[in-house]
Amino acid sequence: MTQAMQHFIVIGNPIAHSKSPEIHEVFANQTGCAIRYGRQYCPDDAASFTAVVEAFFQGGGVGANVTVPFKQLAYDLCLAQGGVSEHARIAGAVNTLLLNQDMLNNGAAVNEALYGDNTDGQGLVNHIKSLGWQLQGARVALIGAGGAARGTILPLIQAGIETLTIANRTMSKAADLVAELSVASPSIDAHKITSCTTTELSGHFDVIINATSIGLSGDTLPLSAHLSCNQAYDMMYGRELPFLQHFTDRGAQISDGYGMLIGQAALSFERWTGHTIDVTQATTILKNQST
Ligand code: ATR
Repeated sequence: MTQAMQHFIVIGNPIAHSKSPEIHEVFANQTGCAIRYGRQYCPDDAASFTAVVEAFFQGGGVGANVTVPFKQLAYDLCLAQGGVSEHARIAGAVNTLLLNQDMLNNGAAVNEALYGDNTDGQGLVNHIKSLGWQLQGARVALIGAGGAARGTILPLIQAGIETLTIANRTMSKAADLVAELSVASPSIDAHKITSCTTTELSGHFDVIINATSIGLSGDTLPLSAHLSCNQAYDMMYGRELPFLQHFTDRGAQISDGYGMLIGQAALSFERWTGHTIDVTQATTILKNQST
């Protein structure tokens, strides 16, 4: 019997640059799943986003990824419909959409049962671990307090980090985030989390993660001369990253965020299909394809 083709999309604006279709094709080949995964452009407003998502799932779509600038809108939509996972709730953002099967089984319509998860932060943690970097007991600094930073916090804490320092250009946003986290989840021990401005961030950390969007602007972060680390991670990829250069010059190990992109995609694929991905093998194939 031939396997039914399952349909997936990634929704964003812009979307032409997205690598998700190629990544998911590698996963499909690895697992023997028959899938079609497309890029879906959407105008940047809430009504268009809702219309695109509902049309996709009403048309039999199985799962969708959501990227810039729709992750918060996706969160709001799921909250009003089929719910969100704890990771999505703490992040305040959704990158993975699927239908809440329990609700469908209880008679809900497709456009009432949209469920949201967030695999970005766990994708980051899985990639960091695959690099052999130690998170258990680590002192971690996270630069940024926007959606990308928020999504990483619960997975980092669940990975057993010792302390988390959240640094941001706008101090109030970092402080608000810390205050919010202390009541957001029983898994989060607020005493382990502190905040400061990016320029105040100094001392030695095991791991420093850049979760700001500064790489998009070409500007460089104003980092203290007294800031050092064993390992530096930039969630951006595919461009020159002065943040990583700063720490390479000081002898740290570095990584860009391409492995995180594959990691979050693998977790979405697993969520949708129930198949586990060999991320190391998939990464080797994807790296060979791009050279
Ligand atoms: P995302 O969803 O990608 O996290 P965001 O919510 O707009 O996007 O957050 C962007 C983050 O990058 C913020 O932490 C922002 O700092 P502010 O809160 O002070 O705005 C940070 N950021 C963006 N451009 C920056 C710059 N030029 N210098 C320092 N931080 C910057």
